[in-house]
Amino acid sequence: MLSVILACALHSQGQPWCNRALSADRRATLLEQHMTLDEMLRLVDGKFAEAASFMPGPRNSKPPGALGSAGFFPGVPRLGIPDLQESDAGLGVADPVDLSGKPIRGTAGYSTAMPSGLATAATWNPAMAYAGGSMIGREAHEEGFNVLLAGGVNLARDPRNGRNFEYAGEDPLLAGTIAGNAIAGVQRQHVISTVKHYAFNDQETNRGAVSAAIDRAPARESDLLAFEIALEIGKPGSVMCSYNRVNSIYACQNNDLLNQTLKHDWHYPGYVMSDWGAVHDLSAAAAGLDQESGDYLDDKVYFGEPLKRAIEKRSVPAARLHDMVHRILRSMFANGLFDDPPAVRSIDGKADAAIAQQDEEQGAVLLRNTGILPLARGISSIAVIGLNADRGVISGGGSSQVLPIGGPAVKPGNDAWPGPVIWDPSPPLNAIRAEVPNARVTFYGGTNLETAGRYARSAKVAIVFAHQWLAESIDAASLSLPNGQDALIARVARANPNTIVVLETGNPVTMPWLWRTRAVLEAWYPGSAGGKAIARLLFGEVSPSGRLPITFPKSVSQLPRPAIDPKTANYNVEGSDVGYRWFQRHSEAPLFPFGYGLTYSTFRYSNLQVRSGATIQATFDVTNSGPRAAADVPQLYVSLPQASGKLARRLAGWQRVELHPGETRSVTLTVDPRILARFEDRADEWRVFSGRYTFYLGVSALDLRVSRSLEIPSRRLLP
Ligand code: BGC
Repeated sequence: MLSVILACALHSQGQPWCNRALSADRRATLLEQHMTLDEMLRLVDGKFAEAASFMPGPRNSKPPGALGSAGFFPGVPRLGIPDLQESDAGLGVADPVDLSGKPIRGTAGYSTAMPSGLATAATWNPAMAYAGGSMIGREAHEEGFNVLLAGGVNLARDPRNGRNFEYAGEDPLLAGTIAGNAIAGVQRQHVISTVKHYAFNDQETNRGAVSAAIDRAPARESDLLAFEIALEIGKPGSVMCSYNRVNSIYACQNNDLLNQTLKHDWHYPGYVMSDWGAVHDLSAAAAGLDQESGDYLDDKVYFGEPLKRAIEKRSVPAARLHDMVHRILRSMFANGLFDDPPAVRSIDGKADAAIAQQDEEQGAVLLRNTGILPLARGISSIAVIGLNADRGVISGGGSSQVLPIGGPAVKPGNDAWPGPVIWDPSPPLNAIRAEVPNARVTFYGGTNLETAGRYARSAKVAIVFAHQWLAESIDAASLSLPNGQDALIARVARANPNTIVVLETGNPVTMPWLWRTRAVLEAWYPGSAGGKAIARLLFGEVSPSGRLPITFPKSVSQLPRPAIDPKTANYNVEGSDVGYRWFQRHSEAPLFPFGYGLTYSTFRYSNLQVRSGATIQATFDVTNSGPRAAADVPQLYVSLPQASGKLARRLAGWQRVELHPGETRSVTLTVDPRILARFEDRADEWRVFSGRYTFYLGVSALDLRVSRSLEIPSRRLLP
């Protein structure tokens, strides 16, 4: 590979920037001095890395040297600067898909599919997110990529957002912590990760023009706090600015977001890249954009000739270009792109699928169980019903689409972008049969309701697999399961009183049939080993431990915006009270609250103490008081004093604890002071109000078991 030959690993004589003992900043400074104007421009003007059939003429060709995926920047051989080979992203190494469902890069394009981002967030387990990120980063490196467009952390302000499945839910602390750890995992593999989409790209409807309206204070307390935390934990080399406008100004040319908040307030040392087609004006350079991605997708190329002319005419200061290049090189050095370049080799699909399986086993959420689960091994017959449950599990569409090792389980239809629909080849039916080899396990796809009823009636237990395909660029039309699946479940549940529903959905859905079923497992998009993970959960080989990272509403009328507005997404309606905080503020009872999830054991909490000192710390004991080994996720919520004007309780900490029956563990949680604070726009600082704070220990945002109150003095924190 070219990049191996060029980078510092093998080629360092007379190149002082190859000295690993120096800081990334110093190395960037040393290298940058040797670059010509044209060489610098090469680093800031990116190409789509594929032939783009939708583009005319020479634009419809793959740039020489590109591996072929999302983005490409040719390196500078004379200075040993490696190519930047970019790929999506956070759910596995994606590959642009041709309409037959084949990866464009041939067999090299097959990778391990992680469960959806919501599944990983539902683990509430930062170490799991890190392990998943690390697996994806390693596969990317083994496939020749050195930049992953991962780290999606947009808050789930709308449960219909078509990309929630790429993100980490509705709470800034949980989402930022999970995404930050996933990013750190990726970067451990010498691959730069982004955090994206900065910011407020919280709906897909008209994402290229919609304006998110939000004032600075609630912005800082919500989506921007999620980004801030992800940046602190993950230290991503790059931030991807988003398609939408924020307060009327496009995110990629938004001075408040890029220069002020990200670079000034947060001292971000890395570079800002645009989303593909998100640049509309050369003013983006002054506003803080450092790199134009997939330039042909913008209405014109801005960071090529136009930027060069602007620098020559001094309408963009040369120092700005130097800063862009410095930031890019710095991130490349900081993440080992020079010292540990990708070495293409075959990936260990088996070991990597085990990580995907573990993520699904920890992230699937048991929503209902009237004592039927775990299923008894002596069961004589099961009817498995639902489209393609004999073939695989569904995944979400768009740029994050992974082409799973083994190929799609179902031959994709001829669906254009954001399709095709891909089923990962991990059939739940086979995995269920393997759990109970002596049982009669029948299968029916579910197209005819009467036949489905017959199958259900003829078995002791019926398991219905229902799915909801979602994709980038479109939002879900409603909260209902599509394609008549509500009727299918209702029909099966009428025919068999022992009906279990497994949901493979990208988002929360409503469940008009809920009370007729005996159990419901939310399996999200389950990934490369999803079928096996689901079967192991159903039969109790592992106890479910996932907790909802997003509220399941009863209806859209409960949401801040019952109808999605393509022009203005008015996020000032809920402000920073996203998701469960909005529900609480309006005394709305959801279908299932944030933080909720059942398991096969029971837990008890005791000895809650909250101490105030240099930091606020909560300690308590968790005991597994039930019959099985299981994991619990005790959650700490806090309510602020009246004077703060912030009345909704906030998630202040949690820990996932795995315990054997009878085992007790002591847990200590340190509370991030920003969770106790309100952002003050005028003073440009976080302010903790003096007064009485109440801390609640609970099992969901609504089910709080013990509380302690504490006086906390006022305090100011820098932005
Ligand atoms: C998406 C990004 C993605 C990029 C490159 C865009 O459509 O919004 O998330 O990284 O394409 O594929």
